[in-house]
Amino acid sequence: MKKTEYNVAVVGAGVVGIEMLRVLKQRNFPIGELRVFARSSRDMDVDGHKYAVKPISPEGFEGIDIALFAGTEGEKGAAVTYAREAVKRGAVVIDNGADFRMDKNVPLVVPEVNSADVKKHKGIIANPNCSTIQMVVALNPIHKKAGVKRIIVTTLQASSGAGKGAVEQLKEENSLIARAGFDNLSVSASGKSMPQQLAYNVFPHIGSFADGDYTNEEWKLVKETHKIMHAPKIKISATTVRVPVRTGHSESVYFEVSRPISVDKIKALLAKAPGVVLMDEPKNNLYPMPKDVEGRDETFVGRIRQDAFVKNGFWLWVVADNLRKGAATNAVQIAECVISSSK
Ligand SMILES: NC(=O)c1ccc[n+]([C@@H]2O[C@H](COP(=O)([O-])OP(=O)(O)OC[C@H]3O[C@@H](n4cnc5c(N)ncnc54)[C@H](OP(=O)(O)O)[C@@H]3O)[C@@H](O)[C@H]2O)c1
Repeated sequence: MKKTEYNVAVVGAGVVGIEMLRVLKQRNFPIGELRVFARSSRDMDVDGHKYAVKPISPEGFEGIDIALFAGTEGEKGAAVTYAREAVKRGAVVIDNGADFRMDKNVPLVVPEVNSADVKKHKGIIANPNCSTIQMVVALNPIHKKAGVKRIIVTTLQASSGAGKGAVEQLKEENSLIARAGFDNLSVSASGKSMPQQLAYNVFPHIGSFADGDYTNEEWKLVKETHKIMHAPKIKISATTVRVPVRTGHSESVYFEVSRPISVDKIKALLAKAPGVVLMDEPKNNLYPMPKDVEGRDETFVGRIRQDAFVKNGFWLWVVADNLRKGAATNAVQIAECVISSSK
């Protein structure tokens, strides 16, 4: 489908859908017609640009070349209901949710790691989970050189990772506590999108509890990393934690390698790795933080250290904007790969 312009649909007008509209504009994506779909219609202003959001329907995908899905997941969600309808009408679907990620007929792609997998698509390509994307962008260059064999990761995930409702919940909890003069740090917001209060709190519970009492968010880090890096033998254990940050996920990553490598070599690899910004100057108190990476497309890595007890064990601190590289930017990069790989 080599063309000069592509008709694009964005499904979902939540935090990811809005960021998709920004990223498409900022990257000058070659758009012919743009349609935005959600459950209900409305006019929406994003950075001064007006968008007419229309109710989603199968017919809405007639004539669409690329459909970027950022609606809800699950049985009655946008992707399960409409992705195949879009493909039937000739679109390539890039889905942000978890519904198709582990389907063997659906490539799961982070362009810096496995862009060649895009060519294997049969109509649907999946965008990995936000916490997986930033981890594999940082680890893949090291894996290629030294063979990563073990990963233990603790994530510190922002409220926007749980959608617009979670951002509203955090805002409301913060203002309730401020209004009460910080005397009572236990509050109840009117609408709850997360399982616990997030303001002045953290909780180790993202998604739902699954096998072995790990959450499904934790299993995503395991299974998605195996699929993207084509490395099913890496032993991965994860703990995913929600923290009272608006946007920007942080990760403390411990990993062990099979072939010896030095901290200097790891720094040199990351300094030239695609999509990575090395920010590691402990003497100057310089390391990545979520407040500084909001709106950025790169994955930031700092605090690179050798483990004090394990010879081939190392630590990284990895931060990225979950709505940009963790979702919208990665999806639009996939769309760019689709275009460049099509004849
Ligand atoms: N937030 C992140 O950091 C992040 C990162 C990676 C992946 N994701 C995934 O991206 C997707 C969107 O997440 P989000 O955080 O943007 O959620 P969100 O802020 O809650 O927004 C969801 C949007 O989807 C629309 N929607 C829901 N059901 C739909 C349906 N059946 N048909 C059409 N549209 C529908 C909603 O429409 P209305 O506005 O009309 O209600 C809303 O605009 C999810 O699958 C999520 O897991 C999110």
